[in-house]
Amino acid sequence: VSERIVHVDLGPDSYDVQVGAGLLGDVGARVRGVSSARKVALVSDATVARLLGATVGASLHSAGFEVLTFDVEAGERSKNWRIAGELLEAFAYHGLGRNDLVVALGGGVIGDLAGFAAATYLRGVDFVQVPTTLLAQVDSSVGGKTGVDLAAGKNLVGAFQQPKLVVADTSALMTLPESEWTSGCAEVAKTAVLDGEEFLSTLEASAASLMARDEAVTVDTVQRCVRFKSAVVRSDEKDRGARECLNYGHTLGHAIETVAGYGAFPHGLAVAEGMRFAARLSVEVAQGSVEFVQRQDRLLDSVGIPVMSQALAPGSLLRAMHADKKARDGQVRFVLVDAPGVWQCDPVPDATVMEHLQAWSASKGGGSG
Ligand SMILES: NC(=O)c1ccc[n+]([C@@H]2O[C@H](COP(=O)([O-])OP(=O)(O)OC[C@H]3O[C@@H](n4cnc5c(N)ncnc54)[C@H](O)[C@@H]3O)[C@@H](O)[C@H]2O)c1
Repeated sequence: VSERIVHVDLGPDSYDVQVGAGLLGDVGARVRGVSSARKVALVSDATVARLLGATVGASLHSAGFEVLTFDVEAGERSKNWRIAGELLEAFAYHGLGRNDLVVALGGGVIGDLAGFAAATYLRGVDFVQVPTTLLAQVDSSVGGKTGVDLAAGKNLVGAFQQPKLVVADTSALMTLPESEWTSGCAEVAKTAVLDGEEFLSTLEASAASLMARDEAVTVDTVQRCVRFKSAVVRSDEKDRGARECLNYGHTLGHAIETVAGYGAFPHGLAVAEGMRFAARLSVEVAQGSVEFVQRQDRLLDSVGIPVMSQALAPGSLLRAMHADKKARDGQVRFVLVDAPGVWQCDPVPDATVMEHLQAWSASKGGGSG
């Protein structure tokens, strides 16, 4: 499968996303193409470092970079202020300079964390994303949102900093645990639904191959998602309008994660549940159709994302929705998709949300509390 390049056109902040199998073999030369740095801070998590750190480090070294490696513990818990501060202190201790470079090697946690460190160190140094999860390749590595979590909530602190380059090697995804693959598939399904009929029908036809991690299908799928995301980011770099669509499924999804406790449900599963919910809501409050609800259900089923079997208390979910940073003027907002490629973001009255949450909970055998 040949390499694909998606150009993210943001004027002086433009960059390429390289997508293909086996790209990490010469990642050093790829990075050298966008940086004259002497030193590289290679930031990763312990799991990814064990799998890919040596390959990537050696390749960077042979491209003439002095490589400083920083590994954090794997998982969302590392995406915090304290660890970001430790990275910044370490950059300074090792004399990382204005012209030097940060390379984020890992999933979305590492991309957000290392990107945030790069955005703030010396008021901003260059960084390159080398995403190693499906979610990071199709979504988080593109678009320049970086940040960390606070105790009060996820992603409450951050900065916009576009990378200089994204190297998405699909071969690196083969070691992903099944649950992480499925979680990424939820974002793929979200993207296909937002993008429109062409991607959606392609994904419907290739779902089984994607689940089997077929190389050609994976490269094609990642490229399609990146192309979509780059178009959205181009039209709304700083998240003031069109970029809102990327939150499809996230209003209920985030609430589920908050109420159940982070880590109780994989992010992708929560988002997929949110997509199923929003499509049903759309039938009532927008122009959604039952046909689309069913089509989307079948798509999610076909990429291996089960319907959540457990109910959560509707009252707690509604409270969590109000606490979300996307809520505005006391109103809960939903991205509503009426048909493939047709979406809007609307406030929905509490009474309507509550009624749907109760139906949702009852469908899982839950109470109405
Ligand atoms: N910046 C954005 O626009 C944006 C968009 C969506 C999500 N995010 C953020 O992304 C984060 C989630 O990202 P994620 O799902 O990639 O999580 P993650 O980075 O925690 O990775 C998931 C797990 O997979 C492991 N892993 C990574 N690559 C692997 C590989 N190749 N083989 C085996 N294991 C591997 C990691 O060690 C980790 O345990 C969240 O913090 C979320 O807020 C950011």
